[in-house]
Amino acid sequence: MNWNRLLFEIFPYLALVVAVVVTLYRYAYRPFSVSALSSQLLERRLLFWGSLPFHWGITLILTVHLIAWIFPEAIYAWNASLFRLYLLEVSGFALALWTLAGLVVLLWRRLVNARVRATATAMDYLVLFAVLISVLTGLYTALAYRFGSSWFAGTMAPYLTSILTLRPRPELVADLPFAFQWHVFNFWVLLALFPFSRLVHIITVPLGYVARPWQIVIWVRRRFTQPNP
Ligand code: HEM
Repeated sequence: MNWNRLLFEIFPYLALVVAVVVTLYRYAYRPFSVSALSSQLLERRLLFWGSLPFHWGITLILTVHLIAWIFPEAIYAWNASLFRLYLLEVSGFALALWTLAGLVVLLWRRLVNARVRATATAMDYLVLFAVLISVLTGLYTALAYRFGSSWFAGTMAPYLTSILTLRPRPELVADLPFAFQWHVFNFWVLLALFPFSRLVHIITVPLGYVARPWQIVIWVRRRFTQPNP
């Protein structure tokens, strides 16, 4: 057994099993605990400046990662033009900086606001710190090893597919730069923390509202009748 297999094959499967089993258990037996545990009542100004950029940024970044994984050919086709390649790289980098700014505000808020700090758990800090590592190692990789959007499609897409199809190929990560290996490993760490932390709120994403049928509201009023004299 070598380190590469341990970190990029065994650990990912452990993280996946823990994430699925514990989330399902929580959803079935403690459904009201599956929430972001909003702290808006405790403090709202910093929350606005932190949560909004962070959530928009991280959601878009995760969506682009997902597209690059599911449609790697589309990324190659897009990057075939130098202008489009730079457009993708520069906007991805800017989006990550925007996310980082929101994350720093959220961390700062949790550390300095007495009311928010009083209700925070060690897991709240751990999760924010782990997300920070993901954003920082992502930014560093983008700066130090150019054109990640192309080599992500060539290395990470087959790696992630190999894990999900139970034909693991950890060797695809073995020769990548350390900062990027950390980025990948940290993703599995976040997945393992997912069901034990606020991160579990991600599965409550209110997508149902997008396709929800019209709601019909019917007034039911009791007819007012004069009492007989
Ligand atoms: C698009 C679906 C999402 C919705 C609707 C959502 C909603 C929320 C809400 C309402 C809060 C509580 C803020 C408060 O304290 O009042 C929160 C916190 C949080 N969310 Fe999300 N979220 C979403 C996606 C994500 C994603 C993809 C991540 C990825 C890491 C994430 C990470 C976090 C974290 C770390 C916190 C805690 C922030 C803190 O400690 O102050 N969320 N989210």
